[in-house]
Amino acid sequence: MTKTILKNIKLIIVGITLITIPSCETVIKNKTPKTTSNLYKQKVDSIINIMTIDEKIGQLNLPATGPITTGSSKSTGVVKKIEEGKIGGLFNIKDIKNIYEIQKIAVEKSRLGIPLIFGMDVIHGYKTTFPIPLGLSCSWDMELIEKTAKIAADEASANGINWTFSPMVDISRDPRWGRVSEGGGEDPYLGGKIAQAMVNGYQQDSLAAEYTIMSCVKHFALYGASEAGRDYNTVDMSRIKMYNEYLPPYKAAIEEGAGSVMASFNEIDGIPATGNKWLLTDLLREDWGFNGFVVSDYTGIYEMRAHGMGDEFDVTTLALKAGLDMDMAGDSPNIAASYTNTLKEAINKGKITIEDIDKAVARILTAKYKLGLFEDPYKYCNVKRAENQTYTQVNRDFARLVGAESTVLLKNENQLLPLKKSGTIAVIGPLAKASNNMPGTWSVSTDHATAISVWDGLEQTVGNQVNLLYAKGSNITKDLALEKRVTMFGKDIPRDEKTDKQLLNEALSIAKKSDVIVATIGETSEFSGESSSRTNIEIPQVQKDLLQALLKTGKPVVLVLFTGRPLTLVEESETVPAILNVWFPGSEAGLSISDVLFGDVNPSGKLTMTFPRNVGQVPLYYNHKNTGRPLGNNEGKFEKFKTNYLDVRNESLYPFGYGLSYTTFEYGEIKLDKTSMTNNDTINVSVNITNTGNYDGKEVVQLYIRDLVGTITRPVKELKAFQKISLKKGETKTVTFTISIEDLKFYNYDFDFVAESGDFEVFIGTDSNTTLQSKFTLTE
Ligand code: BGC
Repeated sequence: MTKTILKNIKLIIVGITLITIPSCETVIKNKTPKTTSNLYKQKVDSIINIMTIDEKIGQLNLPATGPITTGSSKSTGVVKKIEEGKIGGLFNIKDIKNIYEIQKIAVEKSRLGIPLIFGMDVIHGYKTTFPIPLGLSCSWDMELIEKTAKIAADEASANGINWTFSPMVDISRDPRWGRVSEGGGEDPYLGGKIAQAMVNGYQQDSLAAEYTIMSCVKHFALYGASEAGRDYNTVDMSRIKMYNEYLPPYKAAIEEGAGSVMASFNEIDGIPATGNKWLLTDLLREDWGFNGFVVSDYTGIYEMRAHGMGDEFDVTTLALKAGLDMDMAGDSPNIAASYTNTLKEAINKGKITIEDIDKAVARILTAKYKLGLFEDPYKYCNVKRAENQTYTQVNRDFARLVGAESTVLLKNENQLLPLKKSGTIAVIGPLAKASNNMPGTWSVSTDHATAISVWDGLEQTVGNQVNLLYAKGSNITKDLALEKRVTMFGKDIPRDEKTDKQLLNEALSIAKKSDVIVATIGETSEFSGESSSRTNIEIPQVQKDLLQALLKTGKPVVLVLFTGRPLTLVEESETVPAILNVWFPGSEAGLSISDVLFGDVNPSGKLTMTFPRNVGQVPLYYNHKNTGRPLGNNEGKFEKFKTNYLDVRNESLYPFGYGLSYTTFEYGEIKLDKTSMTNNDTINVSVNITNTGNYDGKEVVQLYIRDLVGTITRPVKELKAFQKISLKKGETKTVTFTISIEDLKFYNYDFDFVAESGDFEVFIGTDSNTTLQSKFTLTE
């Protein structure tokens, strides 16, 4: 084809864009994406009509690339492929100038000039880093969560990124699974609210705006239910459980307009999600009305070979026909089972049709239109905006606040906390100075070197008033191989040459000189995250020993606990007077922690995952079924032939929804404005809450419902509403919830979403163990 014709083709594409884009605002403001794809159909079809088969397959290709640098290395395989139109997008590239150059190649050097989409794992912030998602969820503050996503989008979009692989909304009840750190915990209702807040934060009112990015809800679906908490393991679950307990957050994200979906690694009903037509087409597109595109997880298509789904043609065909549009990281010389390597031949073999490919191409091109990339491919590469809007003081101040709001106070005997800003404090523990661990797992765009450690945070905030002493006290773990695995990705905590005894002695000697000890111990950030499952979820033994030795000094000890998952903390809960679970608070960690330690922020975080007593109780979650032999009110006492253990009580150490404050709250009686309702009715449930302590504070008031009789068994309690309120010292507020028929619905045996008439219990309280309750009836 001559240059003139090529130029004309590009003009046609641009021409179509100019003539037929109605108004991006109208398009995007309608959050239900059902109509948007139609608006772009004509333009998309016109491009597809002039695309070669290689160019089409190219759009489905999202290769894994190391850092690509253009210029001198223009001839790298990737650059050549972009020029040939064989790549649809790239991911996890951090450098805006590089992204600009690469986009330029796609737009100017490829035959059709189709812009690339640039994705990234912007999971909990771009450079300004917020707490790990599990921590963030403990804020129970949807406005705050949405704002973190908004800031992440603002920073990422200024730096060339227009697509994030977030939110991860996999419900999980298994703290052995390292990826619980990336999600919002165990509850489907709360998970749905968080999913919506995140999608809204990323995409806001207009996907085409330069400060928003497309969200990709993941990992669809059920990834959090991997057997035995081992990452990438098999999932097997009844449809009833799926619909009622695991699918709601994905559905909520889709309803909020999430532009894309990532298929999970696991199988569902015996077919890997990546090739599961029921999941990716029947449920996602037909039932839920999703019209964005679906991307595989990293080499997910290829992995179907190991799953035992056939040869490279079988698995790619299975994926494409199932509705999997984009192949992540499949395009590599050593991976035969990729769209790039097989689809063309699969047509010749009669396994797929060109229409199958066209459908996927159309969805990806539509996404690019929605993002406004055809109008201005460089809109996300705004160097000035990147300089002015990334990691700003305003964003960092907000991250500092969010870090504090996500902290969960697990124990505070004799009001040891907050600490006084005076005297001598010994800061002891291997995580005290570990800045690089503070942002937590999945923080690819963070500058780990500038994150604020506990030590730095304390020095900055109270360094003038408090005499601060430091000792490392111990290494992370005695196990060298484990230590290596949990300090990867530049998150090393150099091992001390000193012996354990020497480290401990140093710690004890400064402990003796102090008024109070702040023990900064727990997991490193890479103890959780992908491929970081544990069977022992205790604090590593060498750190436990350190903690017990510190307690023996008789000095008051505050445990500042770092973790990416619920840990088993029986010993600590019995021996340590104050425990502050800080998760991994983000780039401003040390400041957030200091704010809470000294009471500048009164902690109000509430757990979103149950903390078990021991790993043998797992999976342990509050919204379980009753069984035919419940222990009832005899919790704590063993009963033969009841559902319990010989060696450990059933109940958790810290339940879902649990978290203390420096102040105390007293709940009054539950009042209902009526005790029965019909389908068209609502009931108002209210309760008075009084701040009875000595500090102003915030409380997350939680409402749970139990459906006493159903056509299928129903959970003993389900979270149905919550409100986070502020109460001044001595203040009383009435909190009112309105229960509607929607709150009583569930999927029945026929998968109809229904409410069944009968009796319900309603509980309100400070956590899921609440016994404050009342009753009402739903009549026909
Ligand atoms: C993870 C995804 C992530 C992707 C891209 C995969 O290994 O499972 O969550 O988005 O990599 O980095």
